[in-house]
Amino acid sequence: MEKLDQKKIEELIDKAVEMMDYSYVPYSHFHVGAALLAGNGTVYGGCNIENAGYTPSNCAERTAFFKAVSEGVTEFEAICVVGGMNKELTDYAAPCGVCRQVMMEFCDPDTFRIILAAGRERYEVFTLKELLPMGFGPKSLGVR
Ligand code: THU
Repeated sequence: MEKLDQKKIEELIDKAVEMMDYSYVPYSHFHVGAALLAGNGTVYGGCNIENAGYTPSNCAERTAFFKAVSEGVTEFEAICVVGGMNKELTDYAAPCGVCRQVMMEFCDPDTFRIILAAGRERYEVFTLKELLPMGFGPKSLGVR
């Protein structure tokens, strides 16, 4: 269990900001970067990847989750998300509903932290439950 102190939060913000450089966004030009902190301490970066068919586009958060899960890592502590048009961090980039649902699959809604940042000095921390109240997850189906 990694402690989510100030230093760790800043590290996650830096990583998320770095990941915006890899966003493939020829259509929206809206860059999103994510840094997902796993229970084992590893940080998985993610960026959004768009597609000419639009529907196959993938959000930064899901890219990070799928990278981790595809390597056998399924326990998570926190995710930091940053985003903005042409990489300008003017506001928070909150996770879309689909990404919140993916978080619900792998994370404890009471303890998993979502850090929305618009810079190193401007961020807010939410639990998954706050951003997805009464979420439907594995427990709803008697799994875990
Ligand atoms: N996007 C994300 O990467 N994460 C979100 O949670 C919200 C939206 C991306 C998808 C698309 O590439 C761009 O932002 C504009 O919607």
